[in-house]
Amino acid sequence: NRVLVLNGPNLRRLGTREPDVYGAATFDDLVALCRDTARHLDLHAEVRQTDDEAEMVRWVHQAADERLPVVINPAAFTHYSYALRDALAQLTAPLIEVHISNPAAREEFRHNSVVAGVATGTIAGFGLMSYVLALQAVAELIAEQKT
Ligand code: DQA
Repeated sequence: NRVLVLNGPNLRRLGTREPDVYGAATFDDLVALCRDTARHLDLHAEVRQTDDEAEMVRWVHQAADERLPVVINPAAFTHYSYALRDALAQLTAPLIEVHISNPAAREEFRHNSVVAGVATGTIAGFGLMSYVLALQAVAELIAEQKT
């Protein structure tokens, strides 16, 4: 049961980037958390990060071809990337949008997500726990499909 955990621009800089907003944990901590959480849920998480929109779109195409569930933190792409939205719209397996912060409580430009409308659901505002909750959702949805 593979799941892709995709992270958009600047997320590799977790821990040093605006720690008041995103916390002190590093990207490596996030990778370890996702892998451990997935293992306990009988999933295998492949955690990736890119600052490049084209690379992110290619990863989504791969997920579509392989019918893989996706947990994605699109970071700033959330708010303006129609290319990413269109790529995500082809997915057939569960798609969970996650955010570390709560974009609704922040600047106006973060209030709109162009991705949300094609996601199964969105989890935001729980720090790194947002990813834990998203992986739990994926596990539940997969289990539901099998019954
Ligand atoms: C973010 C929120 C986005 O608005 C922002 O551009 C990010 C991170 C989050 O995880 O809280 O880079 O997706």
